[in-house]
Amino acid sequence: MNEFSLILLKWFHENGRDLPWRKTSDPYAIWLSEIILQQTQVKQGWDYWERFMRRWPTVDLLAAASEDEVLREWQGLGYYSRARNLHFAAKQIVEMGGFPTTLEGIKSLKGVGDYTAAAIGSIAFGLPAAVVDGNVYRVLSRHFGISTPINTTEGKKEFALLAQNLLLPALDRAGQGAGLYNQAIMDFGAIQCTPSSPRCADCPLMETCMAFREGRVAQLPVKLKTLKVKERRLTYVYVRYQGETAIRRRGKGDIWQGLYEPLLFEEESSLSPLTTYLSPLKKNVKHVLTHRILWADFYLWEPIERPQLPEDYFWIKEAELDDFAKPRLVEILLDNLIS
Ligand code: ADE
Repeated sequence: MNEFSLILLKWFHENGRDLPWRKTSDPYAIWLSEIILQQTQVKQGWDYWERFMRRWPTVDLLAAASEDEVLREWQGLGYYSRARNLHFAAKQIVEMGGFPTTLEGIKSLKGVGDYTAAAIGSIAFGLPAAVVDGNVYRVLSRHFGISTPINTTEGKKEFALLAQNLLLPALDRAGQGAGLYNQAIMDFGAIQCTPSSPRCADCPLMETCMAFREGRVAQLPVKLKTLKVKERRLTYVYVRYQGETAIRRRGKGDIWQGLYEPLLFEEESSLSPLTTYLSPLKKNVKHVLTHRILWADFYLWEPIERPQLPEDYFWIKEAELDDFAKPRLVEILLDNLIS
């Protein structure tokens, strides 16, 4: 085994995190953890994993749930397409007659790309596929002093090849150990070789780390700047009439598909003059998503008659609001309501 992998595995043995999904070989449990961890820190995702496993202990039970129930349980984690894809993929797995055991099969599940397939395949089935996630890019670019931008085709190829070349010699004689190695390098990136203030002083790989030797730790990995994210302004109006309020379910083709929201006016809406008569509960709330920055205003409207609203809105009792999965931003706005 090469020196790098040997040190990494020793580090993992001493410092690896004791996570509940590491105590199982159930591919369903491992898949669920990987989907949660795609865009969520372990600390935040832990509870959600436990709640999902308690509510839907098998893939058949998850597949039999409604999309609304799954979204509701996902509420607060963000990036809800993960929850929709999770539910869709659960049905795919049931249709396949069981969890796929090849890399191709795992990749055919909705919401599973190269990185997640390698993680699931190696951890659940010992498939010799190297994971390349943000942690891996960071550890490899620093240790081997590689400044090829990680968000280019060339960079992706170069790092994937290097990761795979490091993984193979780390396997034992029976070809096992890919899952262990992948989790070791991910944990190492999350705990030791962190994006800012990495713990170089007590790093077991310090002596062989090119970035450390050359004083380039803070400059790596290199990422090309992409176009500025678009900004979008939203005006939400909470309508209150005789203990009821109006919401709608967001449709396809936009953010927050399948989640519920109060009356919404976008920038050039014909209905927006309404807000000139109302006083805002909250203005200019900033909400940052991956590809967008949202600015939201929030109003309360208490009309004296039940108003006619666009047809996709429906009335519910205010007390029932909790039963509907809502975007995080809407939750934040609703916190400003005086009930
Ligand atoms: N991030 C995503 N998947 C992970 C895993 N299995 N271990 C550690 N960090 C991760």
